Amino acid sequence: MLSNLKPQDPDKILMLMEEFKADTRQGKVDLGVGVYKDPQGVTPVMRAVKAAEKRIWEEQTTKAYTSLAGTPEYRDAMARMVLADVPQDRLASVATVGGTGAIRQGLELARMANPDLTVHVSDPTWPNHLSIMRFMDLPFVQYRYFDSDTRGVDFEGLKDDIAKAKRDDIVLLHGCCHNPTGANLTLDQWHEVIEILDRTGAVPMIDLAYQGFGDGLDADAEATRLVARSLPQVLIAASCSKNFGIYRERTGILMTLTGDGGARDMAQGAMAFLNRQTYSFPPDHGARIVSTILSDEALRNDWKDELEEVRNTMLGLRDQLASELRELSGSDRFDFIARHRGMFSRLGATPEQVQKVKDESAVYMVGDSRLNIAGLNRDTVPVLARAIIDAGI
Ligand code: LMR
Repeated sequence: MLSNLKPQDPDKILMLMEEFKADTRQGKVDLGVGVYKDPQGVTPVMRAVKAAEKRIWEEQTTKAYTSLAGTPEYRDAMARMVLADVPQDRLASVATVGGTGAIRQGLELARMANPDLTVHVSDPTWPNHLSIMRFMDLPFVQYRYFDSDTRGVDFEGLKDDIAKAKRDDIVLLHGCCHNPTGANLTLDQWHEVIEILDRTGAVPMIDLAYQGFGDGLDADAEATRLVARSLPQVLIAASCSKNFGIYRERTGILMTLTGDGGARDMAQGAMAFLNRQTYSFPPDHGARIVSTILSDEALRNDWKDELEEVRNTMLGLRDQLASELRELSGSDRFDFIARHRGMFSRLGATPEQVQKVKDESAVYMVGDSRLNIAGLNRDTVPVLARAIIDAGI
């Protein structure tokens, strides 16, 4: 029976990660997978995370099961971090296996609620969004998002396309730090998106994987909060992988906001059921680190400070790269890099140019020319800038 299995398409980002590891060239630069690296090239365990783990180790007396939804401490702390003012009467939530688990459970939930669902997703988007939906056999269409001339958002295209969504379809939106482009909607544009969703009755699902990596912890949640206040139904899939640096702990959350308490209870039950069917209890260690940090003022402040250091380092690298490229190209055509936010920027290069950069300069970007700004440091920025110009980008 197992011999009937067919080869699966490899995930391009993870494949690149392996290819980079196998490359023996000195001075190679990994701008592929979305992982933060400090100037020494290390993905550090954050100070507050270490302190929280120590405290958990000292104080934890049992590893018995928690609950299908995860602990209330984690879910409350996350709801406050994401939503600030938590509408308790409308909110249901479950801890998930990372942000990916939250996306998967959110899509499963949406399909349980509407079997005729179509998902509207940005073009481009995180490749795994599409892969998950293909695997689930979930119909999806892509809405225009990236303007390859300006490297900003094609907002007119986006509006035209999402206006075609039907009642109870899902419109999947990146809450901040769009992956892979780095181009984001302004708050005014979010207002217009909300108007369209309100008119069509389509339900937003917000993927919030990079809160704190763009304009700040609260600023990055502003759009999600606005959507949550403005529309009766919202799904939010949030990840702690990046902002707490706990990638391998697989810590995420799915939240839903419904119109009233009855619907909230129904959603809560369905989400706990989905956890039970998929993996039963969600992992606890990462969630406990997060709730320990967020509920302790000193740890919380230290974590916020370190997150700000990470964010400002990335902004500094963006500015440095844009200015190196201004000098080398004698033009301002790369200034969008300084305007983009989050871990990624899409350069708008061809796959051949991306290959040339890899072959000739040992700099690894995803084939669609997404580069991970956090994989750079002050010394590798000039290497990348030179490679970009030499590849004719
Ligand atoms: C990325 O986009 O590089 C990250 O979200 C890692 C992943 O799982 O793809």
